[in-house]
Amino acid sequence: MSTCPTRNQNLVAWVEEITKLCEPDQVYWCDGSQEEYDRLCQEMVESGTFTRLNEKKRPNSYLSRSDVRDVARVEDRTFICSERQEDAGPTNNWKDPSEMRATLKGLFRGCMKGRTLYVIPFSMGPLGSPIAHIGVELTDSPYVVVNMRIMTRMGKKVLDVLGDTGEFVPCLHSVGMPLAEGQKDVAWPCNPDNRYIVHFPETREIWSFGSGYGGNALLGKKCFALRIASVMARDEGWMAEHMMILGIQAPGSTEKKYVAAAFPSACGKTNFAMIIPPAGYEGWKASTIGDDIAWIKPGPDGTLRAINPEAGYFGVAPGTSEFTNPVAMKTCERDTIFTNVALTDDGDVWWEGMSKEPPAHLIDWTGQDWTPGCGRPAAHPNARFTSPAANNPEIDPEWENPEGVPISAFIFGGRVSHNFPLVYQSNDWSHGVYLAATMGSEATAAADNQKGLRRDPMAMLPFCGYNMADYWSHWLKMGKSVPVEKLPKIFRVNWFRRDENGRFIWPGFGDNLRPLEWMLGRCEGTAGAADSPIGAMPRRQDLRWDGLDFDPAVYTKLMSIEKDVALSEVEDQSTYFARFGEKMPGELLDQQAALAKRLGALSGPWTLPSED
Ligand code: OXD
Ligand code: MN
Repeated sequence: MSTCPTRNQNLVAWVEEITKLCEPDQVYWCDGSQEEYDRLCQEMVESGTFTRLNEKKRPNSYLSRSDVRDVARVEDRTFICSERQEDAGPTNNWKDPSEMRATLKGLFRGCMKGRTLYVIPFSMGPLGSPIAHIGVELTDSPYVVVNMRIMTRMGKKVLDVLGDTGEFVPCLHSVGMPLAEGQKDVAWPCNPDNRYIVHFPETREIWSFGSGYGGNALLGKKCFALRIASVMARDEGWMAEHMMILGIQAPGSTEKKYVAAAFPSACGKTNFAMIIPPAGYEGWKASTIGDDIAWIKPGPDGTLRAINPEAGYFGVAPGTSEFTNPVAMKTCERDTIFTNVALTDDGDVWWEGMSKEPPAHLIDWTGQDWTPGCGRPAAHPNARFTSPAANNPEIDPEWENPEGVPISAFIFGGRVSHNFPLVYQSNDWSHGVYLAATMGSEATAAADNQKGLRRDPMAMLPFCGYNMADYWSHWLKMGKSVPVEKLPKIFRVNWFRRDENGRFIWPGFGDNLRPLEWMLGRCEGTAGAADSPIGAMPRRQDLRWDGLDFDPAVYTKLMSIEKDVALSEVEDQSTYFARFGEKMPGELLDQQAALAKRLGALSGPWTLPSED
């Protein structure tokens, strides 16, 4: 039992109340030190939760294998318990808060028996930043503690900032598996039949039960930094977004520009946040502020300024390689916790896509022998690396600036294989909000039980803590609260269009800097464009092609719009918008009607005007 290191009465009283409810064997206040991290990791090595990796190949790093039933976020077990159902809206699971509290009290009663309750004070954002907020997670999982130490600023220094009277978001987590006297623990305790990831937006509380997986258990991330923070942001006039933040500096320029981009989970957001300029872009510099979440507030000069509230990356491992993301490969070279990747015979890690040739033998993510051709993936498709942001060789020097960085553009993308151009610009803020609100994407492995194409407005579908239509109204309102000349420009992108043979048309990765340069040129007023019914698009001559041999006819195809497909997509939005009833902002319905009209006026497919 460690002694209580704070005089914050609200915190002390809450820890006492939860201790009484959960009945842990002991309470431990995390100080956030390296010594504490090393000790907990060693304990997990001894208990079988962690495997220490080869110190020469992967210094200070560990592998963890989850229960096979606990591998991803569980959206169908994620609840928004606002007082009124309409405040959660049709896209969230709602439950009456008092009923839910009764259920949770029952589940949490005695749930930490035989375990330690860890108190984790953490800051989302640089300590003391006017954009940052503090949370405290109580958990019975040491795996959560060590991951939180990488993902957030945590420990004693946070209590110092919190002081005696500071406010914090209470985040309670349990793996939901009490241990009877003498009962041996399992390597990955969880309670898959009883999972509850619950948010109370009015009282800004999080209760999570039964899962040890990152997005369900590291409560600073999706639960606080998005679901609860989106509600705080609405109430206080700022924005909490599922966005990476990237800095770009052109050769010879002293000014760096920052963009924030939203993509649904597992659509290459981390790769884009760590982009390497392609051939032909010598002297360009790209640097990462954040790879997943942005908190954005109007600064004193009226510009929107963003911080990355996190201090680490919880990245998807499969598909990450020296080719797709060398920066991430460097970042996870050391000091990293891997979850559900495969183990090599020499104590290193491997996952699908890391190398062309798989090793001849591995231990797969379930702990079984694996050989190429055995018919099973070696790593789980949602296997993760948790790495400190400070390890990123291309980290932006401003990444811990408490005032944040000014945002020039918002970029929204999805994974759509047909009829969706590489890039286009919205006509204005309201049109941009419409483009973001109607985003859709094909299914990925980041969440369980997804099928087909799903609409994912602003990539926030699983993460908005209130009614999505109210969230759109908030976006529209933000546009009116910032002077027009200071408002970021809004773009849509799609790296994933396929040809008739199912092959990706656009090379993607580093070459995404080409459309990005164009977007920044549009922000500056220096880049040209053609007007299309869906927004302004770069003509071939508006993009830089140095270093890339790309067939002009294919480019024209990449940017084309089939009238009928586009019109039926716009019609389909009516059913989707109708779900929001009275709350649906009229401005977005007007945008939809205007687009239908522009498309209706076409005589056939729309293609870029020919050059010259
Ligand atoms: C993530 C996700 O883990 O979006 O970032 O699922
Ligand atoms: Mn994410």
